[in-house]
Formats: sequence, structure tokens, C-alpha cells
Amino acid sequence: MKIGISGASGKLGATIIAELSARTGHHQLVAISRSPEKLGKGMENRKGDYDQPDTLRDAYAGLDRLVLIPSADLRPGVRGAQLKTAIDVAVGAGVQHIFLLSAAGTREASTPAIGETYWTGEQHLIRVAPRWTILRMNYYSQSMIDEIMMSLVQGVLAGIGEDCVAYVSRNDVAAATAGAVAGEGHAGAIYNLTGPEALTGRDVAAIASDTLGKAIVFSSITEEQLRSGLSHAGLPDVVADAIVDIKKTFVEGHFDVLTHDVERLSGRAPAFFRDVLTATKS
Ligand SMILES: NC(=O)c1ccc[n+]([C@@H]2O[C@H](COP(=O)([O-])OP(=O)(O)OC[C@H]3O[C@@H](n4cnc5c(N)ncnc54)[C@H](OP(=O)(O)O)[C@@H]3O)[C@@H](O)[C@H]2O)c1
Repeated sequence: MKIGISGASGKLGATIIAELSARTGHHQLVAISRSPEKLGKGMENRKGDYDQPDTLRDAYAGLDRLVLIPSADLRPGVRGAQLKTAIDVAVGAGVQHIFLLSAAGTREASTPAIGETYWTGEQHLIRVAPRWTILRMNYYSQSMIDEIMMSLVQGVLAGIGEDCVAYVSRNDVAAATAGAVAGEGHAGAIYNLTGPEALTGRDVAAIASDTLGKAIVFSSITEEQLRSGLSHAGLPDVVADAIVDIKKTFVEGHFDVLTHDVERLSGRAPAFFRDVLTATKS
């Protein structure tokens, strides 16, 4: 079986490839990137750019299965359109089963909401792919850790209300994806890849204080205060808007979903947030 992995140069794509390579099985891996020359040796590397459909036709030729990772382009409307193009080209190229990395809490949404990407991608996939599997990622532990590190100077972790999130390690998302892609019986399934517990903003601040030995508290501020703080920190508007949007979905409970899907698919228990933070610190 020939398996293509998009976003192969990225953190998630590279970890999925490492997880697939570690599994026994008669599969050949094809790493797909806009810059295949930058990918490692040891497997077939192909050029594929979501913005250049011709490159995707060559990239997806002869694949049995394809892992589609959305790009990290946060401009409203871009990623949904990219995913539709990639799905259409993959179906046209005869790919039998497409695995889409999506986000927890996906529901009907339109631009400029960040969730539009995942809604558009999921709906199009379900409509046109011969076989599909959707892997909805919870929020990465690593992304929250980045935020904690930026908050250490002021000692304040900001949210825009009470939230609850089942933070998942990116490595566990990769392991679960590899388990599904290399396995059978996952067609038509929507999985929720979560960590082992859901944490509030206060829980996260307490774990960070304890683990890092520095006082940090959770504080609820308004959307305007958060956006203005992010702009003052030098983040471009498109990134600040995306962060505010994500925080809104936190408060609305989109990431307050706990499942055993990571363990079912990967064969191992997902890491606790505290342990990912401890490992990052050391
Ligand atoms: N759930 C969460 O908490 C969370 C947090 C962060 C990110 N994410 C999402 O998770 C996904 C993967 O994240 P990551 O950490 O692996 O991101 P990353 O390291 O930035 O990788 C993004 C990948 O997208 C590829 N890419 C960008 N533009 C592309 C294009 N036009 N055509 C084809 N490929 C393109 C890049 O590949 P090349 O440059 O090699 O082409 C790169 O490999 C992204 O969708 C990201 O938005 C989720």
C-alpha cells in the first residue's frame, strides 16, 4: 500500500512519518512538501503545493491512501479552498482513502472564523471521497506551552472567560493518525484526538506555576484587551484574530471533549499536559 503524507516538512507531518516508519507493514511512504529537496532521504519525496493543483496531480498519482494536513496559512478562506482543491485532485488521481486532520468542535462556520477551514474541508471530503476518515485534533499541549512561556514575564495567562480544553500532545496526534492510516476499519469514522484530561485555564496556570517554579495566574480579559495585547506584542492582525477566535471556541466548549480515541488508534495512553510541560522544560 502506498501512503502519501502532506505537510511532510512540518512538525506534525514529520512525526506522522516517523510513527508510520516505526510500524511494521507492507506500506511505502511518500513524503509530500512544497520543497521536497529539504526532506530527509530514505523514502520517495514529491513536490505538492495546495496553491498549484498541477503539482498535486503528480504528488498524488498512484497513492492508495493520503494524509491531508491543512497548511498553517491563517488568512480567512485560504485553507478551506486549499483543502477542497487537494481533495478534488486526490479523488481525480484515484486515491481510495483520504485521512483529514481537522479540529475539535468543528461545526458549520463561515469566514472569517478559523473553523471555516475545517468545516469546508470535512464537508467536501464527506461529499466526494470514496473513503474518508476525519481526525479532529484537540488543542496541542505544545501550543499552550508556547503561550505559557510568553506569559512568564508578566505572570499572567490570559483567556476570555472560563474555558476547558483536553490538551493533546502533537506526538499523540501523530501516533493516532499513523495507527488509523496503517490500520483497517476506519472508513467513515470521525475521531476526536484528545489528551487524558480536560483542564481549565486555572488548572493550566497552577500546573505551570508548580512545574516551572514561577508564579503564574489565569486572568479573564475582554476580546478587545486580548487583541490589543497581541498586537502590542508585535503579532500580525491575522494571527491575533486567529488567537482571539480560538480562545472564543475554548469558552464555547468546542475543545471540552474527552475520548479514548488516541489510545484506541495508537495503542498507547496519551500524555498528560503536566508531563509534556516537564519534558519541554528539561
Ligand atoms: N490543534 C492545535 O492546537 C494546532 C496548533 C498548531 C497548529 N495546528 C494545525 O496543525 C497542522 C499542522 O501543524 P504543524 O505544527 O505541523 O505546522 P507546521 O510545522 O507549520 O507545518 C505546516 C505544513 O504545511 C505545509 N504547507 C504550508 N503551505 C502549504 C501549501 N501551500 N501547500 C502544501 N503544503 C503547505 C508546509 O509544508 P512545506 O512548507 O514543506 O510545503 C508544512 O509542512 C496545521 O493545519 C496547523 O494549523 C493545530
